[in-house]
Amino acid sequence: MIRPAELIERKRDGEELRPDELAELVLSYTRGDVPDYQVAAFLMAVYFRGLSEAETFALTDAMVRSGETLDLGAALGRRVVDKHSTGGVGDKTTLAVGPIVAACGVPFGKMSGRGLGHTGGTLDKLESIPGFRVELTTEEFVEQVRELGLAIVGQTADLVPADKKLYALRDVTATVDNVSLIAASIMSKKIASGADAIVLDVKVGDGAFMKTLDDARELSREMLALGRHAGRDVVCVLTDMDQPLGQAVGNALEVREALATLRGEGPPDFAELVIGASAHLLSLSDLGVDGAEARRRAEQAVADGSAVAAYERWIRAQGGDPSGDALPEAPLIREVFAPRDGYVARLAALPVGLAALRLGAGRRAKDDPVDHAVGIVCKRKRGDEVGQGEPLAEVHARDDASAAEAAEAVLAAYELGDEPPESRPIVLDTLS
Ligand code: URA
Repeated sequence: MIRPAELIERKRDGEELRPDELAELVLSYTRGDVPDYQVAAFLMAVYFRGLSEAETFALTDAMVRSGETLDLGAALGRRVVDKHSTGGVGDKTTLAVGPIVAACGVPFGKMSGRGLGHTGGTLDKLESIPGFRVELTTEEFVEQVRELGLAIVGQTADLVPADKKLYALRDVTATVDNVSLIAASIMSKKIASGADAIVLDVKVGDGAFMKTLDDARELSREMLALGRHAGRDVVCVLTDMDQPLGQAVGNALEVREALATLRGEGPPDFAELVIGASAHLLSLSDLGVDGAEARRRAEQAVADGSAVAAYERWIRAQGGDPSGDALPEAPLIREVFAPRDGYVARLAALPVGLAALRLGAGRRAKDDPVDHAVGIVCKRKRGDEVGQGEPLAEVHARDDASAAEAAEAVLAAYELGDEPPESRPIVLDTLS
């Protein structure tokens, strides 16, 4: 039997723990045999001291073993691909990538999460679609992926219960943004849900957990090592989160933008990320195509309408109304105007994410309701030219007071300059 206080002390003092000690701590905590306060202290010790590679492997293995695992590949008789984002502002990538990949004949069954802090969650976005059900049984989930090639659901309570408890505790103890803890959290869920190949969208910038390219590379290397250890193919795409992704931030607004992107009418940075991620997934799948052919097929699915058709079939199958007109709209739209002529030198992601959160698009506490209609549309992005008095952004709000507060925050997130800023691509690096 471990003594949690002793493990906390040894980790606090910089010692490396044995795999069996870490496994027992995680499994005892999941069962409720170790209290939150001891694990909170342990997480803070890990935050300062870090975990060795062997410790990260042991933590991840224990998290996978804390619950059930799913072998979607065996159930479908196909190689299964999956994607995950480390979380950002305006990140609706899964909503567009799923239908494109499915339209290209590759099954896409994904378990997604809810928003966290200032970052939005795929499930909250999907729940803005009237009637859409995110809670399918495992049997319904597998059956829908088999029949339709596409299902996106909430992670079941039985899959990596250790992450559910640890994540909630990290969220309230300032221990989220540790590379090893993030790597173990993400990879345990991907390994437990049975994907053979995984594309990880690692966000970098002020709106992401990883603020610098160096930190994002370190996180990517840890996730690649965990993937290798578990026998999975992993590609990490490091993408810009110094400004919101696309234009829309807020649940229904993001669903509308994902739908527009499937019609070929999306904002350029988001459309590029979606096609790139889809191409990685297709080239890791059992289609046997290289990167160039995979990209051609992803683009074709958008151009010929098959991606939108896959989206509509999928939303209907989960009980939702796929029409953009069915999405809720905020009662009030307030424009934010440019105070001078110039170029957008900077549009900080974090304040935009926080402004959307305060409008009601995200949660401040775990059980807060989400207002699906509200959010922000950033009409001008970094590098765009704007004239004085022209709109920079729109705030979609429930009432005047919240609109005014958000408008002020959004205006402060914009920095205008006299020259166009240096261009920064959406994909900053790719590691595999
Ligand atoms: N996303 C996750 O699933 N886990 C983390 O720890 C951070 C982002």
